[in-house]
Amino acid sequence: MARRRRVAQHKITRITLATLPTPLESGGKLQSGANLWVKRDDLTGLGVGGNKARKLEFLCGEALNNNATCLVTVGAAQSNHCRMTAAAGARLNLPTHLVLSGAKPKNLEGNQMLSSMFGAQLHHTGFEANDWANLENARNTLTEKLISDGQRPHSIPIGGSTPVGAIGYAVAFDEITAQCDLKNFAADAIVFTTSSGGTHAGLVAGLICARANDPQKVLPKIIGIGVAKSVALSAIRVAELANETLALLGETVRATQDDVIIDANFMGSDYAVPTQAAAEATTWAAHRGAWVLDPVYSAKGFSGLLGRDAKGEFAADSNIVFIHTGGLPSLFVTH
Ligand SMILES: Cc1ncc(COP(=O)(O)O)c(C=O)c1O
Repeated sequence: MARRRRVAQHKITRITLATLPTPLESGGKLQSGANLWVKRDDLTGLGVGGNKARKLEFLCGEALNNNATCLVTVGAAQSNHCRMTAAAGARLNLPTHLVLSGAKPKNLEGNQMLSSMFGAQLHHTGFEANDWANLENARNTLTEKLISDGQRPHSIPIGGSTPVGAIGYAVAFDEITAQCDLKNFAADAIVFTTSSGGTHAGLVAGLICARANDPQKVLPKIIGIGVAKSVALSAIRVAELANETLALLGETVRATQDDVIIDANFMGSDYAVPTQAAAEATTWAAHRGAWVLDPVYSAKGFSGLLGRDAKGEFAADSNIVFIHTGGLPSLFVTH
């Protein structure tokens, strides 16, 4: 609560794009006897939902404050972040440019089909999906071009993982703990998929504020399951981003690397390369609660939760929250 007041004091503008709060559903027992809870951030609503809606509420607030005339962002060919930015652009009547990996496909599918439906202009770069440095260079080049054409682009880095974007998940941390309080339990761990690190950094910032506000409160371990090499698979970088977020919120408390847990053991060989554990986690989640996971992000994240549980990390009757971060459209991609 204290933090929200500070958001207002610092004139960080939040616009409404998501349908919040998202539900926190009971997922029954894990193998260990721990209780599973599923935080349905796949149901945030914006352009069929996902975690990026929370970041975009603040990123687009920043765009409107800067009188932006268009949005620019970047991602893999099937980027959920790009699709949701396109949806935000449609809602705000801001032309949206998406810099994407890969060549122009014969038919648009999945997230690209939806992004195009929302009116975004797709810029196919031909770069590999994990060539993040060249993709970011292409975003910068396009941004410069738009400026020289007289536009005022609001250019958003990969995944929307800036301190402003990460505020979305600092606020989500409070939303989750308030829902746990209402259901009369304290979460022992919050597990989710991490890639560009903004979701993770925001949750850590939320944790640090909660710890400062009430040092006696039982607070969860924040566990990110990494799915992409060379984006933000570094506890140092996530702690830095959490601290930049805390500074933006006007907080004086800071995170350390010890507050950041990134588990890269469930990624497989690289970003978007399927794993057997993710396929099994997908079936488990679909059979247990009709939760629909995607192979690139949420299934690998959930395979991390199941894998850590199988190794005995979670005590019987402890409470483990999985944030379902979305990713549905890539399920419908055929190539
Ligand atoms: C479905 C899904 N889950 C998780 C993530 C990871 O979020 P972050 O980039 O904030 O680490 C993404 C990022 O694109 C995503 O699309």
